Amino acid sequence: MYIQSELTQQNISQLKTTLEKYLFFSDISIYDEIFLLKSLQRRMKFTNCFVIDEYFKLIEQNYEEAISFFDSLHICYSEFFRNPLTFAVLEHILLPELIQKMKNTNRKEIRIWSTACAAGQEAYSIAMLLEELKNANNKEIKYRIFATDISESQLQEAIKGEYPASALNNLNMKRAEQWFIKQGEIYSIKPELRKRINFSAFDLLNKQTNSPPVSIFGDFDLIICANLLFYYNYEFQKIILKKATNCLANGGYLVTGESERNILMNCNYHEAYPHSAIFQIN
Ligand SMILES: C[S@@+](CC[C@H](N)C(=O)[O-])C[C@H]1O[C@@H](n2cnc3c(N)ncnc32)[C@H](O)[C@@H]1O
Repeated sequence: MYIQSELTQQNISQLKTTLEKYLFFSDISIYDEIFLLKSLQRRMKFTNCFVIDEYFKLIEQNYEEAISFFDSLHICYSEFFRNPLTFAVLEHILLPELIQKMKNTNRKEIRIWSTACAAGQEAYSIAMLLEELKNANNKEIKYRIFATDISESQLQEAIKGEYPASALNNLNMKRAEQWFIKQGEIYSIKPELRKRINFSAFDLLNKQTNSPPVSIFGDFDLIICANLLFYYNYEFQKIILKKATNCLANGGYLVTGESERNILMNCNYHEAYPHSAIFQIN
């Protein structure tokens, strides 16, 4: 099936005008054009439209499709231990290093920010690693994990911490048993892990605030900003990265998604570990 695969400036302004007619609050100019094109192609395939003009006519006549297109720009997909290389480095190198650094420097606690946590899988994965390191060392390790997202509904899911069996695919049996309670078909995060994370709403594009107000002063050893930068165009990627940079502790680390490594390589960051999506400021 052939689907028109070029998005011109004229197409973008047409899409913007059409969407704004129905969804007065929408501003699609903040999104990356390739991301927009892919979203458009997915909806075109779904609605059997082969050329962009045909699809525009459809959304002009069909309010539901305009909403569906706009919703398709808000991807909330996440996984526990989503990027295996990143989580292996976190488990075996980076978190043990942060624990050691805390001891050597009298730093009071390890501070972590999961900036776009979706339904909590990323933040809970980090909490599992830290609790496991704590148990393995038989020592108290002080840490705080702040997890934020722009979506209130995702945050409610995260706080609930209930997942279907399929969400546990990346976990071995030991972890699944250690950190979840099975209730029928639902797996719930154990309360002792849930209480380790502070969830709150936060818009990374809000220019008024640098870090989640609940964290008070930022100063994070580790910030995870994964699988969200690719949504936005360069100008907005820069706003998000500036925010992260401003609240990283000295020598702190920034983690992105696999496919977002190039964005960081072209900014003021370098790979902390070869080929990983873990970066430090130059
Ligand atoms: C694809 S999910 C990624 C979740 C997780 N970080 C991961 O890598 O699996 C993207 C998340 O970014 C959130 N998001 C999008 N724009 C945001 C913004 N401006 N501020 C905060 N969160 C945002 C969405 O609500 C969504 O939950």
